[in-house]
Amino acid sequence: MTAPAKKTVLSGVRPTGPAHLGNYVGAFRNWLRLQDEYRCFYSIVTWHALTSEYANSRAIRDYVFEVATDLLSLGIDPAKCVLFNQSEVKEHAELHLLLSMIVPLPWLERVPTFKEQQEELADRDLNTYGFLGYPLLQTADIIVYKADVVPVGEDQACHLELAREIVRRFNRLYAPVFPEPQTLLTEVPKLAGTDGRKMSKSYGNAIFLKDTAAAIKAKIAPMVTDTRRKRRSDPGEPDDCPVFTLHRAFVDPARREALAADCRRAGVGCLECKAVAIQAIIDLLTPYWEKRAAFEKNPRLVWDTLEDGNARARAAAGATMIEVRDAIGV
Ligand code: TRP
Ligand code: SF4
Repeated sequence: MTAPAKKTVLSGVRPTGPAHLGNYVGAFRNWLRLQDEYRCFYSIVTWHALTSEYANSRAIRDYVFEVATDLLSLGIDPAKCVLFNQSEVKEHAELHLLLSMIVPLPWLERVPTFKEQQEELADRDLNTYGFLGYPLLQTADIIVYKADVVPVGEDQACHLELAREIVRRFNRLYAPVFPEPQTLLTEVPKLAGTDGRKMSKSYGNAIFLKDTAAAIKAKIAPMVTDTRRKRRSDPGEPDDCPVFTLHRAFVDPARREALAADCRRAGVGCLECKAVAIQAIIDLLTPYWEKRAAFEKNPRLVWDTLEDGNARARAAAGATMIEVRDAIGV
């Protein structure tokens, strides 16, 4: 009996700069797990970055390098998966164009992220054709590999909903070319940034993977903890402590629960408690830092790996596009 064919995974990351711990727990930790079990395509989505950063486009190429270096240093392995740059695989653009013929405008206008993101990024004009089409381009990213599974956070669920609707419409209008992609919801532990708000690059509160051990200590040590703990002898509540979100993400469960119990009976000081999270993060990142140093010394290695991924992605996407053109009759 032959083993059942591996299911295909596609996910994407916008190149917006070096990755932080929030990106790691929100996405990349899963990507690492999935590459062992699935046929994975991981895309650095340059064109998606351009939909909001079109006035700042020159930075994007450096960010592609940053993200690719982050992923390879974390252990994303080109022997196990395909890591590539979306803008080097023109098939995504062709499919986006063809899908634009069949997607009713209201389907795009009602995707909640369209209005939300416009409001969030009110400093720029995002009333563009490209920005409206963001989730349609994402649909093309996914289905051009006939992906079965798409690991994303809750905020992307509406985009996957749209992708499935478009697949049904295409398959009905032309021919059953595409499977309906399923959402693999990533359990994302909420990570606080250094100011206690959600960790985000735009808030300036992020701990970056490429930060040094000293920088990580300097960022976490002054963080506000549960405000009940004015004095060392005041008991606290880890659930109300932003620092403890780091423990939840990085400290092994037994150690973490012991600390939580100690916090609740004032049996541990915040400095000592923070030191445990700091050490866990340093242990996690030490192999990453070693690999990153090697890539930074030899950036050609990163670009060559991407180029190889681009070629493999092109081959897969190209095969789908032959079917697509045939189904439509162009
Ligand atoms: N919109 C996704 C995000 O903001 C990025 C993305 C683009 C993506 N294309 C994708 C994610 C395809 C999954 C699949 O995170
Ligand atoms: Fe937070 Fe730890 Fe201090 Fe408790 S002991 S408030 S969990 S840092």
